[in-house]
Amino acid sequence: MKILAIETSCDETAAAVVEDGRKMLSNQIASQVEIHARYGGVVPEVASRQHLLSIIPVLKEAMVEADVGWQDLAGVAVTIGPGLAGSLLVGVNAAKAAAMAHNLPLIGVNHLEGHLYANWLGDKSIDFPVVCLIVSGGHSGLVLVRGHGDYAVLGRTRDDAAGEAFDKAARILGLGYPGGPAIEQAAKGGTVSIPLPRAWLKGSNDFSFSGVKTALLRLAEAGKISSAADAAASFQEAVIDVLVTKTVAVAKERRVKQVLLAGGVASNAMLRQRLAEKSPLPVLVPPPILCTDNAAMIAACGYYRLQAGKTNGLDLDVTPGLKLS
Ligand code: KG4
Ligand code: ZN
Repeated sequence: MKILAIETSCDETAAAVVEDGRKMLSNQIASQVEIHARYGGVVPEVASRQHLLSIIPVLKEAMVEADVGWQDLAGVAVTIGPGLAGSLLVGVNAAKAAAMAHNLPLIGVNHLEGHLYANWLGDKSIDFPVVCLIVSGGHSGLVLVRGHGDYAVLGRTRDDAAGEAFDKAARILGLGYPGGPAIEQAAKGGTVSIPLPRAWLKGSNDFSFSGVKTALLRLAEAGKISSAADAAASFQEAVIDVLVTKTVAVAKERRVKQVLLAGGVASNAMLRQRLAEKSPLPVLVPPPILCTDNAAMIAACGYYRLQAGKTNGLDLDVTPGLKLS
């Protein structure tokens, strides 16, 4: 069963075809990163216009790469939120048009649930229950997954998301945009030598990263940072320390079978390595290209929703503030 999916929640115009929720037949991503880098972050108006220009070519390319025609598809999945309203609208309208014209089921997908389902792409076996650490630019959360579509959010960020913290730290250190890869790269040439605070929020599974970011900002303002590489390494260490410690604690407490990692920050090699080292349970992580925004993960999620009979009508709308529940 082949699903075509569209993802336009932020600054990536993406389309993909996935078979049976696991086999990736195509994965097209048109990134706008170079356009937004000029402004030091995503400009929503610019993003939606760019999606309009890219959506049809990207969609066609995904079908060509997968070697499928409309008659081969079982449904059209699309990200409905969370994300930028104007960006989401482009994808949702394209998906509606395709579903209507070709009489295919329409499946609205939560972007965060999509990140989780990147773990299903490939042939790794996943045994429920699992705990998944979802760390992206807009969200950080610890989610207990009991079965397909059966979630309990155990912890979330109280302020900055992990990716957002990386982006802000990179800006403070003048390392450019997007911040995550820039910090990771700079940290390779530095040592963890600057003491930075960790918000443990004892007794809670929530996260908070605004304190560590502010501490870095104060040091920079006081002219106390002599090496951006050391600062990047110290910052990365502080964030990863909290993410890994909390994830491992929750996984033990909940007696899950596996630990999953997802979202853009999950492409960080140090985070992947540290979690694998510290976790007594098997850790599954998608390849880096499936951690950052893509449509294959939306197709994977869409497949399981379709299997569960969760389809939507043509009145499907975007929900920019959608939560995982
Ligand atoms: O999941 P994603 O592609 O988009 C959202 O849904 O937000 O995540 C993007 C975030 C950005 O904040 C980016 O800086 C961060 O993921 N990121 C990283 C790395 N690659 C991307 N953070 C740390 N290390 C990386 N290698
Ligand atoms: Zn994302």
